[in-house]
Amino acid sequence: MVTAIYPGSFDPITLGHIDIIERAAKCFDRLYVCVMVNADKKSPMFTPEERMEFVKKAVARFDNVEAETWSGLLTDYADQKQATVLVKGARNVCDFDAEYQMSLINKGIKSDLETVILPASAEYIHFSSSMAREMIRYRQPLEKYLPAEVVLAVDESAEQKQIRR
Ligand code: PNS
Repeated sequence: MVTAIYPGSFDPITLGHIDIIERAAKCFDRLYVCVMVNADKKSPMFTPEERMEFVKKAVARFDNVEAETWSGLLTDYADQKQATVLVKGARNVCDFDAEYQMSLINKGIKSDLETVILPASAEYIHFSSSMAREMIRYRQPLEKYLPAEVVLAVDESAEQKQIRR
């Protein structure tokens, strides 16, 4: 039984993330999508609880996928879950470079933890959570980029927070 983790800040989860989740779920017996803190991203648009709620809605249809949050070190979470694989997505060489570096850091902490980097599918290479946040700020339709299950929840939260321009 191979357990994998797909970690990220998911602020918010996009169809690009779902594409990676769907493909990774076919490769591994169990996949944990872990909503985490990225110390470099100082002011997320959505709270960890909201991001988790969006992720939960988006992964509900996958039998072997679970959503959780973790605020500590990723390798400690891998220990707790007895996971042997980290899944990351890469849209371009910049993503690949960053994930390659991070894989070496994580392997330095936990030598038996492998990172599998999946190339983004062509239709999602131009999109990211930061683009989603920009579109949310400017009230642009989100259906092409966010899972249908989360569009309404994202819209409602953005309205409440008055982050619309
Ligand atoms: O979606 P992101 O923001 O690129 O995800 C980055 C994330 C959250 C996976 C990364 O920042 C992370 O692993 N944070 C947890 C702390 C950690 O374990 N850092 C690496 C070893 S120091």
